[in-house]
Amino acid sequence: MKKRILPARGKLGVLIVGINGAVATTFIAGLFAITKGYGKPIGSLTQMGTIRLGKRSDMDIPKIKDFVPLADINDIVIGGWDIFDQNLYDAACESKVLEQKDIDPVKQELSSLHPMPAVFDNYYVKKLNGTYIKNGRTKMELAELLRADIRDFKTKHNIDRMVMIWCGSTEIYMGRNESHNTIDNFEKALQENDVNITPSMIYAYAALMESIPFANGAPNLTVDIPALTELAIQKNVPIAGKDFKTGQTLVKTVIAPMLKARMLGLQGWFSTNILGNRDGEVLDDPYSFKTKEESKLSVLEHILQPELYPELYKNFYHKVRINYYPPRGDGKEGWDNIDIFGWLGYPMQIKIDFLCRDSILAAPIVLDLVLFLDLAQRVGMKGIQEWLSFYFKSPMHAAEVYPEHDLFIQLTKLKNNLRHMMGEELITHLGIEYYEE
Ligand SMILES: NC(=O)c1ccc[n+]([C@@H]2O[C@H](COP(=O)([O-])OP(=O)(O)OC[C@H]3O[C@@H](n4cnc5c(N)ncnc54)[C@H](O)[C@@H]3O)[C@@H](O)[C@H]2O)c1
Repeated sequence: MKKRILPARGKLGVLIVGINGAVATTFIAGLFAITKGYGKPIGSLTQMGTIRLGKRSDMDIPKIKDFVPLADINDIVIGGWDIFDQNLYDAACESKVLEQKDIDPVKQELSSLHPMPAVFDNYYVKKLNGTYIKNGRTKMELAELLRADIRDFKTKHNIDRMVMIWCGSTEIYMGRNESHNTIDNFEKALQENDVNITPSMIYAYAALMESIPFANGAPNLTVDIPALTELAIQKNVPIAGKDFKTGQTLVKTVIAPMLKARMLGLQGWFSTNILGNRDGEVLDDPYSFKTKEESKLSVLEHILQPELYPELYKNFYHKVRINYYPPRGDGKEGWDNIDIFGWLGYPMQIKIDFLCRDSILAAPIVLDLVLFLDLAQRVGMKGIQEWLSFYFKSPMHAAEVYPEHDLFIQLTKLKNNLRHMMGEELITHLGIEYYEE
């Protein structure tokens, strides 16, 4: 049965944390260019993807955006925070992802956007020193200031609904602990300026308290702690994370399922990257790198399930390196050397050299996430949205299940969720005919 879905009426406010960064400015400049007809939303499933309905012979394959009632991208209003006071045109030029010829036609729109002062503490991102930051006696006070920003933004722009997305820098590694366990503990920790509460958690808390869906594009814990997943459920808010799945890990979650599907063994997988943007600089700090490393490493274990296939995957060696190399800017190069083995144990190798553009791959993910999270809220979905695992390196998941990393299982899951909310038959790919005795 089709779910009741509130219409996507009015304006959708998209609040971006780290709005001056490479991912955010590439997304925003691209969005303006696309709405003005200067570019195409390549890489975006919501804008370009289709979905099959019914039997293959029915040939009923609408575009996703014509099938589910997504917000129109012309109704998006952008706002957000950063630690540097710079208009978005200057920030987009500085991040050097897009060429001037693609930024200049939307100069007016970008120049009119300025960040709001951030909640930031250099303890959590050691390579950055923010100059444009809020002051508050406690972390709870900072959360209140963010909530006031959200309400002002809503009133000023006559916004109907909102989504918040973290495109801010990767924070230092932080494990889950007692302050993260319950809403009460978390709020007490906010009052007491507990070191275990990171700036990204303060933003997530502010969003949830304002009943705004929240997505996390970085590997920080942020909203992936029991206190905040519980708060999301209490407030009827959908959440998703963590860490946009863009370059090397995107490829990894395609190749690893192939090995497992064909029962080919894995001896070792060495992945290394060079990149020269600000993200690369932040990740040059070992504390921030550890957060990223954890996110990137977990993928293979979950896909290959060594406990089920010890002869193939027990003790494979997995190493991930990221090196800051300024000459490359946002153009990342990721190498993978994969040592595999086949029939009778004979060794083989796969080499991948992916010359990608980080923010070009991330921008369409930002668009899809905000549109799908807005849809999810209008359908009445709350808490962790596992059907959005497709977009993340380290997908948030319920405590009792393991995360799904295989890109094509993730895509099937996403599309089946859309079919389910629209009351369409789920596609099982069953295709057998039995003969009768
Ligand atoms: N580009 C990709 O392919 C990709 C993939 C996965 C994850 N990510 C993650 O997305 C995030 C953004 O990447 P990027 O390349 O745009 O990095 P970036 O360094 O260009 O941008 C991050 C922005 O966040 C701002 N910032 C940091 N802390 C903040 C705070 N507390 N409040 C407000 N603003 C804050 C910084 O000033 C900066 O402008 C990073 O965490 C990165 O690891 C990116």
